[in-house]
Amino acid sequence: MPQWLKDAVFYEIYPQSFYDTNGDGIGDIEGIIQKLDYVKGLGCNSIWLNPIYDSPFMDAGYDVRDYYKVAPRYGTNDDLVRLFEEAHKRDMHILLDLVPGHTSDQHPWFLEAKKAEKNKYSDRYIFTKSVWDAPPEYRMMCGICQRDGNYMVNYFSSQPALNYGFYKVDYPQWQMSFDSPEAKATAEAMKNVMRFWLDKGADGFRVDMADSLVKNDDEKIATAKIWRDIRKMLDSEYPDAAIVSEWCNPVRSINNSGFHMDFYLDHYGNGYSKLFRYEKDGENRAFFSRNGKGNIMDFLNEYIPNLEKTKDNGYICFMTNNHDMPRMTHYADRETVKLAFATLFTLPGVPFLYYGDEIGMNYQGCLTSKEGGYSRTGSRTPMQWDSSKNLGFSTADICYLPVDTGKDAPTVENQKDDENSIYKVVTDMLALRKANKDLGNQGTIDIVFARENSYPFVFKRGKFIISVNPSGEDATIPFDYEVKETLYALGKTEVKGGKLTAYAGSFVIYCI
Ligand code: NOJ
Repeated sequence: MPQWLKDAVFYEIYPQSFYDTNGDGIGDIEGIIQKLDYVKGLGCNSIWLNPIYDSPFMDAGYDVRDYYKVAPRYGTNDDLVRLFEEAHKRDMHILLDLVPGHTSDQHPWFLEAKKAEKNKYSDRYIFTKSVWDAPPEYRMMCGICQRDGNYMVNYFSSQPALNYGFYKVDYPQWQMSFDSPEAKATAEAMKNVMRFWLDKGADGFRVDMADSLVKNDDEKIATAKIWRDIRKMLDSEYPDAAIVSEWCNPVRSINNSGFHMDFYLDHYGNGYSKLFRYEKDGENRAFFSRNGKGNIMDFLNEYIPNLEKTKDNGYICFMTNNHDMPRMTHYADRETVKLAFATLFTLPGVPFLYYGDEIGMNYQGCLTSKEGGYSRTGSRTPMQWDSSKNLGFSTADICYLPVDTGKDAPTVENQKDDENSIYKVVTDMLALRKANKDLGNQGTIDIVFARENSYPFVFKRGKFIISVNPSGEDATIPFDYEVKETLYALGKTEVKGGKLTAYAGSFVIYCI
């Protein structure tokens, strides 16, 4: 286990939209280098960079055309190496995004694979034997290449699935086993991609759709085997490299597959969504909502057993948001967002802050889709730095996406000295997390008060008790602890005569 994960706090950067230094309207690697001190100043010592590889950008770079080359619009491979070096000078770590499940349909492997003649890459993707063969249970592209066969896609039509084989082979004419040499060759090719960037100074990878490798593998048995083999390679060749999976199944990811971390993703109706983003029958029923219709137990009944089962092997990662979902400000008012972020940063596991969330950027819901973003586009708009042109993102006349034109658009400049800002809560909380080991990544949590459909939620981490009541009603509960000091408070919480009263919209950290 890489030791640096013990106190890692990540900042996710969508490179297109972070900071443009050459005036072409799109963010670049040099821009990230120039903002490293800003990121560090927030309290984040690590960065996850969305894909920066050469790509036709049908899916914002998740359609890789060349795993070995930085997209010219972001800079060069040398610029990326410089970013690694500059980060390391500051004791920071950088994870690249690894996209192992599919490539772009413009990738040279695929251009070869779709040729009629058999060649070295014919089995790198999943093709049926003939175009008349298109079982409806698979997502196939039909009749569009010279080769007599249809190919399977992993996500959008432009993203053919790489061939890691099938766990259960239903159509032996064209499905290969996961332990066939052809399937194994794909995994070896991906290991070489990892080695290439780790040798250049990357600190590891966020792994896209980590569960998607082997097909017909419902229990993910063969997929886990591939990842365990990759983890073995990392342990022996790059023991400090970290991998975090986009999976949202910590037992399968951390315990069975050897990931160091797994994201708690926003899957409608799961624990994470019930905390922050759950709407039903047109009503907000997330726990973090002023209307008080959330149920903390929906989260805890899922999270605590997963935490117990995986805490000795890796971390469950909470995030403020990512590039795939609306920002939290879309669901909750700013005061509630503060309570949500404050709570999120007191939970165990490795936390991830999405760029711009620290200033409470808005979700730009009515933008036309850009590079396969669709509804996600509104969370991918340019970072808002100051009051200059394009809010300091770029000097270009036209940007990758329009910047927030709202009169109240938050910027780093107008938020950072504002005592009442989300920025203040984020930076305060990250400083407290750093200064107090009990609030950090390791360890577990003990539940002090949590009831079905009830507020507040109170939990203990070492010598700290945390209470949060995002609802619009005050709530009083029995409380047996002696409070020595208040470490941090938003709103008002009171302990008196064996009772704790969490006033509407409150968060507190007590030392006991
Ligand atoms: C998950 C990524 O987060 C998303 O942005 C992308 O579109 C899909 N995987 C496909 O790679």
